[in-house]
Amino acid sequence: MSEALLEVNNLKVYYDMMQGSVKAVDDVSFKIRRGDAFGLAGESGCGKTTVALSIMKLLPKNGRIVSGEMVFEGIDLVKLNEEEMRKIRWKRISMVFQGAMNALNPVHKVGDQIAEAILTHEKVTEEDALERAKKLLEMVGLPSDTVNNYPHELSGGMKQRVVIAMALACNPDLIIADEPTTALDVIVQAQILKLLDELRKKLNLSLILITHDLSVISELCNKIAIMYAGKLVEIGDVKDIYTNPMHPYTQGLINAFPSIEGPKKKLISIPGSPPDLLNPPSGCRFHLRCPHAMDICKREEPHLVEIDKKGWYVACHLHGRGEK
Ligand SMILES: Nc1ncnc2c1ncn2[C@@H]1O[C@H](COP(=O)(O)OP(=O)(O)OP(=O)(O)O)[C@@H](O)[C@H]1O
Ligand SMILES: [Mg+2]
Repeated sequence: MSEALLEVNNLKVYYDMMQGSVKAVDDVSFKIRRGDAFGLAGESGCGKTTVALSIMKLLPKNGRIVSGEMVFEGIDLVKLNEEEMRKIRWKRISMVFQGAMNALNPVHKVGDQIAEAILTHEKVTEEDALERAKKLLEMVGLPSDTVNNYPHELSGGMKQRVVIAMALACNPDLIIADEPTTALDVIVQAQILKLLDELRKKLNLSLILITHDLSVISELCNKIAIMYAGKLVEIGDVKDIYTNPMHPYTQGLINAFPSIEGPKKKLISIPGSPPDLLNPPSGCRFHLRCPHAMDICKREEPHLVEIDKKGWYVACHLHGRGEK
């Protein structure tokens, strides 16, 4: 088994509000190995972006890491101060932010924006940075003279390629892509996914791919983690989980995703909506929506337990003893 590049252990991240703390990430643990393409899935508001922003240590002002570890190559990122974190952020771990392609600066040419990203992190001349920007654009499948374009001159897919080029600017080992294809049409989505996959293999990157779209993960990832209301409910190999989802929430999500092959499966969504994370329900956070909920589910929180196969974990009273 290859070594862990990033190990997140018992991470808790809360947002402080007037009314109390939003428990956006509540005791989450997972491991990314070198070369993994790790999909993080779950409905809107379940804490996916919060996990990503915590790893980058770019949480908004009211967000705080309450406890836990995020060990990247032996270094616990939680303990690093801003100056130490700057040596890792963008250079070792980088991120394509949710909605980033629409946040490109409209008044600057894309070449200057990529060059700026390089100049902020590395001591190189402006000329060299611009040269690198051209190479990066070629690497993401755009002509090098795209450096002279303004964002509004580019299509959505092209802008997303620019944003990916920016994330690659300082040769990271791990890239976090937060909903990288959500705003794009299906054909462009497929092109961007193919690009991410090719780049990952070519540059020997590890990838955390965040999406609510399970078909995207099935295309690109070897591992999947399913998140619900701030908790991970199932983690394992994509093949195993797609063939035989164990957690009722995963089963619901997989049912709700239309099959790509053959006639379209009917979309069956899970009734109800995720709970308010200011006051999450006791016991299993999914029990109010779970078709198999038992008495114990209302009272006791199930913890992730490894089921039959190594590396496949599920947090549900239907499986295992519900203990760590
Ligand atoms: N700055 C903030 N202050 C307070 N609550 C926040 C803040 N940012 C996020 N939240 C809350 O934290 C929870 C997790 O949000 P997060 O953005 O991580 O979810 P997500 O899974 O990325 O959702 P989406 O799929 O919509 O992007 C949600 O309940 C959200 O409302
Ligand atoms: Mg998000």
